[in-house]
Amino acid sequence: MRKPFLAGNWKMNLDRKGSLALAKSLREKCGSRTDREVGVCPPFVYLDEVVRALAGSKLRVGAQNCSDEIEGAFTGEVSARMLKDVGVSFVIVGHSERRHLYGESDELANRKVRQALVAGLDVILCVGELLAERDQGITERVVARQLTQGLKGVDEPDLARITIAYEPVWAIGTGRTATPEQAGEVHNYLRGVLAGLYTDATAAEVRIQYGGSVKPDNIASLMAASNVDGALVGGASLKLDSFLSIVEYK
Ligand code: 13P
Repeated sequence: MRKPFLAGNWKMNLDRKGSLALAKSLREKCGSRTDREVGVCPPFVYLDEVVRALAGSKLRVGAQNCSDEIEGAFTGEVSARMLKDVGVSFVIVGHSERRHLYGESDELANRKVRQALVAGLDVILCVGELLAERDQGITERVVARQLTQGLKGVDEPDLARITIAYEPVWAIGTGRTATPEQAGEVHNYLRGVLAGLYTDATAAEVRIQYGGSVKPDNIASLMAASNVDGALVGGASLKLDSFLSIVEYK
């Protein structure tokens, strides 16, 4: 049974006060839920405090990125080990904003995945096609490449620590959500790719989140789609009411 995993990616939003207030309110409203996994991904500088504010609750704290190196002279980078050290439990890798705004390659995403696993962090590995790629009919080719390259060297036992997020780039921050059918098609396909890389049984355990303009009014239909096991939420995770409605979808 795959437990739904709903994570809020705050991106470069909120300040210290806002981050802590949102974290504390979430703790109060849904901090003891065990039927769903709920996580928040604040900006690096607020991680430590948010971890402490949520300690002892069921809420998970994730980072939005990590370095592909262990330690050393890498100005501006934050290592997976440092994230683990402050109590972070998972990290988003290969987000489309990293790939397309900062030129991150599949190979770099893979190195980050492996560093995160070595440091003891779980991973949300993001994949997703550009609008032009969907229009050219190469969505499957693109997401298969991102998934296969991203998981290179990840052995079967470690796959249990990985969540995949399918985030079509054309649906991120645009208000244009993939239909449940569109999401389901790609999620089915991704599960098939995982089964080819590992085994059917292992692939069946991996959660595949959908991300891209997830809102309170579309979460239920997306979650009802085939192989959709959760959501990675951007804009709608910044306000208590909207994120709570998403977490509490029926
Ligand atoms: P939006 O929910 O704002 O479209 O962002 C999605 C996303 O990129 C989550 O990682």
